[in-house]
Amino acid sequence: MSKKEYKSTNHKIEFSDSRSLSTIKNDSVDLVVTSPPYPMIEMWDSLFASLNPEINDSLQQFNGLRAFELMNQELDKIWNELARVVKESGFVCINIGDATRKIGKQFQLYSNHSRVTSKFIALGFQPLPIALWKKATNAPNKFMGSGMLPAGAYITLEHEYILVFRKGGKREFSTADEKSLRNQSAFFWEERNKWFSDSWDLKGVRQAIKNENMRERNAAYPFELPYRLINMYSVKGDTVLDPFLGTGTTTFAAISSERHSIGIEYDVNFSSMIFDGLKNLCKTANSGITKRLEDHIAFCEEYQKEKGSLKYKNECFGFPVMTKQEIDLDLKHISKINSTDLGSITAEYQPVKFASHLIESSVAQYEGPKDDKQGQVSLLN
Ligand SMILES: C[S@@+](CC[C@H](N)C(=O)[O-])C[C@H]1O[C@@H](n2cnc3c(N)ncnc32)[C@H](O)[C@@H]1O
Repeated sequence: MSKKEYKSTNHKIEFSDSRSLSTIKNDSVDLVVTSPPYPMIEMWDSLFASLNPEINDSLQQFNGLRAFELMNQELDKIWNELARVVKESGFVCINIGDATRKIGKQFQLYSNHSRVTSKFIALGFQPLPIALWKKATNAPNKFMGSGMLPAGAYITLEHEYILVFRKGGKREFSTADEKSLRNQSAFFWEERNKWFSDSWDLKGVRQAIKNENMRERNAAYPFELPYRLINMYSVKGDTVLDPFLGTGTTTFAAISSERHSIGIEYDVNFSSMIFDGLKNLCKTANSGITKRLEDHIAFCEEYQKEKGSLKYKNECFGFPVMTKQEIDLDLKHISKINSTDLGSITAEYQPVKFASHLIESSVAQYEGPKDDKQGQVSLLN
């Protein structure tokens, strides 16, 4: 029986206000990966004030808590829409930071991550374990408050949050096609250990925008962040939505992961940046895929040197893997991206042309069992 594979994926980018996701059907999205403007971070004040003028009044009146609540109420409108468009058992992953700020004479923390978590619980989502993203760009020696004198100094915020919510219970994979796509979407054992840690150490990306019609900073997250989340919480052929698309990072990660996607961004000025990103994507995404494979081979060699043979063989690449779940794991290179119109992008895929000597070196030391009753594959047979 031939296995179900995605030879192409579709991607749509819309420049509109995601407080209404009217073009997206109920229960049609498998995964949301996004990062909203953070309430009470100054760079977003004018955007929030344009959505509700009362926000500016509250800031002028030094009523920080009121401004915080009103900004979050604007985000709530998008969270309400996500509750409608996300499928049962689908996931929502949100990268958000808390804010510290002095309004009038009052310095305090504005805890965006707990406000957003309460909202999703109220919407009926299950909160799941979260990750802390330690941003390498934050200066650890930034003093806030009374310096070396107690008791008016404040802890520096060096982490952002990756919140994870699920709409309802565990996803079922019932049909043969569903099971096959899930197996092809597996990640490596050693990747699992890193990706599912609650502490993420990812480098930030360059923030400056040189366009006088736009804000000064793009607020983009690194490609690795949505790429990991997409691979952790969806399978090939799923639909990923980002209602705060910005520079297009989530779309790029979805294309690279053989998922469909929808991206919504308020500011149409981002279209040229997204086009530029698409132009370079084949090259950058494919080298990222090759790097995953090379890293796996390096892991195999190291493991086999120190601890002995790996028991299973991956069917697509022929290299050893740690578990039975990785046997059908498959990664594809992008062969072509058609993107004359951001409203309708297609990406096509091809098998990875992989240097066979690398695979040979990883299997050379294999001395695993020849006879395996649990269905494991022996490379010596
Ligand atoms: C934190 S940035 C996201 C950056 C993105 N993750 C990236 O990698 O480029 C938030 C984005 O949401 C957009 N935005 C804010 N409010 C919006 C709304 N109501 N509808 C659609 N986009 C909105 C902003 O213009 C901004 O580009």
